[in-house]
Order: sequence, then C-alpha cells, then structure tokens
Amino acid sequence: MIQIKTDAEIDKMRAAGLVVGRALALLTQAVAPGISTGELDAMAESYIRSEGAVPSFKGYHDYPATICASVNNQIVHGIPSMREVLREGDIVSLDCGAILDGWHGDSAVTLAVGDIDPALQRLIDVTEESMWRGLAAARIGGRVSDISHAIEEYARPFGFGIVEEYTGHGIGTEMHQEPAVPNFGKPGRGPEIVKGLALAVEPMLNLGKRHTRMLDDGWTVVTKDGSPSAHFEHSFTLTDDGPLVLTALDGGKSKLAALATVG
Ligand code: MF3
Ligand code: CO
Repeated sequence: MIQIKTDAEIDKMRAAGLVVGRALALLTQAVAPGISTGELDAMAESYIRSEGAVPSFKGYHDYPATICASVNNQIVHGIPSMREVLREGDIVSLDCGAILDGWHGDSAVTLAVGDIDPALQRLIDVTEESMWRGLAAARIGGRVSDISHAIEEYARPFGFGIVEEYTGHGIGTEMHQEPAVPNFGKPGRGPEIVKGLALAVEPMLNLGKRHTRMLDDGWTVVTKDGSPSAHFEHSFTLTDDGPLVLTALDGGKSKLAALATVG
C-alpha cells in the first residue's frame, strides 16, 4: 500500500529525518583511519537514543546493528564490527535509519577514509550526484520512474555498474513501503508522484560490473567482480514548494537550487 502523509505527518517525518541526518553528520566527522565500524555503530545508536528515537535497522529481520557499514567491495548491508578497522584508502558506505514518534527516516553516505584513489572519489561523487539528479526529477503529477530514469541517465555514461537488485522505496510508518524506486528505467512509468508521498532514493554504483553476491552472513552484499562500490540515500517528499529532503540538514535546499540552474 502507498501511504500518503498529511502535512502534520510530514512534519514528524522531517523530525525523524533530521535525527538520521545528524547521526550521519556525526559519523562523517568520526570516520578516519583506525576507527572500527563497530565504534561508528555504537556512536550512531547512542546519538539516536539520546534524541528519544529508536534505531530502525536493529531487529529488522533480526539485523543486529544500528547502521550498515559497507567497506570497499561491499555494496550494502555490511554488518559493523569492532574487528573491522578502517584503513587509509578505504571507502565506506554508512546507512542509518531511525524511528521518532512512529515515523521513519533512512539515509546513507559513502565516505573516503583518509586519502583515496581519485577513481574512487569519482565513483563516490557520481553516485551522490546521481541521487540528487533523481531527487530533482521528482514532480507532483510525474511518475516514480522519472526518478529512476534521471539516476540512470546521469550515471550510465560514466560506465559504472548500476546495481539492479536493490532499490529505493516508499517510507513512512514502516521503513520499507511501496512503491519500489529502481535506479534505472524508462521515465513515465509506475505510480503517480503526489503531494505527501515519501520516498527513499538510494543508488548503488560499482566501479566494475553491476552484478552482486551475498556473503554467508546472509546480509552483506558485495560486488561479484570484487570492485569497489558506492551508495547514497536520502528520504524525501514533495511539497507544494517542491522537494523537501527529509534527511538533509538543510532540507536539500542548497543542492536542489544549484541543480535547478543546471537544468
Ligand atoms: N537502509 C536500508 C535501506 O535503505 C535497509 C537496511 S536493512 C537492515 O533500505 F536490515 F539493515 F535494516
Ligand atoms: Co532505504
């Protein structure tokens, strides 16, 4: 079922989204060579609880942690560990979700650990930009696949593998709701985008081919060819004044304004 939120409900989702956005800002400051993904997980959990919110991933289908931390060739759903220490040159995707007052926020960033290869920085930058192009393509009266198409159209020419098995999703009183938001496809398909629809948009791009493999832990998704992978995610909604990025500290204003002038 597609859940359409009232303005008051969107205000609650914004509050939940800000908790997630601030948690990721904290982790972004903390990421450096020598820190473990387990330590980052503990920081995220204590911050989320200090805000009176609850980590949404913990216990979701028995997932054991507050964040997903996916290093290098891990695409998504890497399980944090005190034994997994980040090293100079790594890239790490941190995915975080929280529930505040019954409403969910979900967001992810990919970060450089110290100095990284320029090819990896480009992978990160293109993945983030593809997410913003997707968000900027959403219009009231448009269709969900307009977002998918904008992501693919931007990412494809760079030659990165666009992961197909995992998609964005509706979000509200559950983390995962209909509709799915694929990261590729023709425009003008899928459900209509209406005011009060909230979606999480989350492209995953691989330096090599698109294909994925699941590790024996039943969670960690890695690239089949072993190449590094990047992932970004924001939860957003459409208001009468345009997109509001619920998990961005500034609501996405600066980035969306810059994109509007690009056309
Ligand atoms: N945040 C992921 C998503 O964007 C889901 C995490 S799966 C979990 O859809 F098990 F870790 F919660
Ligand atoms: Co998500």
